[in-house]
Amino acid sequence: RSSLASMAGELGLTFGVAVNTDELENDRKYRHLATTQFSSVTAENVMKWGPMEPVRGEIDYGPAEALIASAVENDQLVRGHTLVWHSQTPAWLSPDGTETTLTPQQVRDAMQKRVTETATHFKGQIWQWDVVNEAFNEDGTYRRTVFYNAYEALGLPGHQYIADAFRWAHAADPDALLFYNDYNLEFTSPKVLAAEAMVKELLAQDVPIHGVGLQGHLATQYGFPNLQENLQRFADLGLEVALTEVDIRTFVQPDGNGGFTHEVLTPELQATTEAFWRGTLEACLAVEACNSYTVWGVGDANSWVPGVFPGEGSALLWDERLNKKAQFHELRDVLRDA
Ligand code: G3I
Repeated sequence: RSSLASMAGELGLTFGVAVNTDELENDRKYRHLATTQFSSVTAENVMKWGPMEPVRGEIDYGPAEALIASAVENDQLVRGHTLVWHSQTPAWLSPDGTETTLTPQQVRDAMQKRVTETATHFKGQIWQWDVVNEAFNEDGTYRRTVFYNAYEALGLPGHQYIADAFRWAHAADPDALLFYNDYNLEFTSPKVLAAEAMVKELLAQDVPIHGVGLQGHLATQYGFPNLQENLQRFADLGLEVALTEVDIRTFVQPDGNGGFTHEVLTPELQATTEAFWRGTLEACLAVEACNSYTVWGVGDANSWVPGVFPGEGSALLWDERLNKKAQFHELRDVLRDA
């Protein structure tokens, strides 16, 4: 039977998945699914700054290199995630993404080094980089991150760190497509309008930005009323767009073992979940510039959702034992009928 990757490929769409090197190396079934069902991979964690450089100056490229080697062996593209993000920063830089004991100039220098060295190290191996991740608050103001604050303290516009990051990444790896990536862009809000204004400003300044990623972390109690419109919003600026981290969580019953079981979903919630999967993929297929659709993990056992939203889960296409769910078949149907 054809894979998601091959069916999407016939439509010109790359179908991706977020993976972890540990599971790729140690779980046969996981590896089989991750390497046969998908045409691109994103590092769920191993390319983030904190995991890569826990000790200042000692950069551990190993897990990321292993992930890329697996992708090359299996003819998969790689989405690099992520060069600059306020979360999962190394403790020596900032324990919480805001506070720091470094001087503003040291923060800027460290950021330049991080972007340049990482993009240089992986040069030619990364299809798309999420250069900057999650720069906005929900009200459309810029997050006051350690990067933003350092620039302001240097007398620069706080948000200029974003333009700099794209320029440094492009100088290091001119062939990589450079993306801005964020969540809650699936409905129209001050945040999506601010992201649009930022992209226009970057383009007006000739900053090398090539795409915007809508993460697509969705929940069945909220909708995604403007997903297609907002993909089109960025496409209309001449950019590529992508759904970069899709998962769709719903209410599940704890199994008493620290996990949960998706079998207890009500038929209504199950139907809503399937309709959400269908709708997100259809939105991407409807927008010419939507070049990839990535799901944020293989099976529910690896999903970040239950840890962050207790009582919610069943957010992925395979269950805790890596059995296919109806959600998987729903996506196949969408691809078959497109
Ligand atoms: O690897 C360490 C381990 O050594 C340590 O003992 C353990 C104890 O806390 O933590 C492990 O690290 C965890 C890491 O995942 C790997 O499992 C971190 O605590 C945990 O915070 C981290 O969570 C990740 C989260 O980003 C961090 O903010 C999730 O796996 C990952 O799915 C999630 O992904 C983000 C995207 O990058 C950006 N968009 C939102 C998305 C969901 O939050």
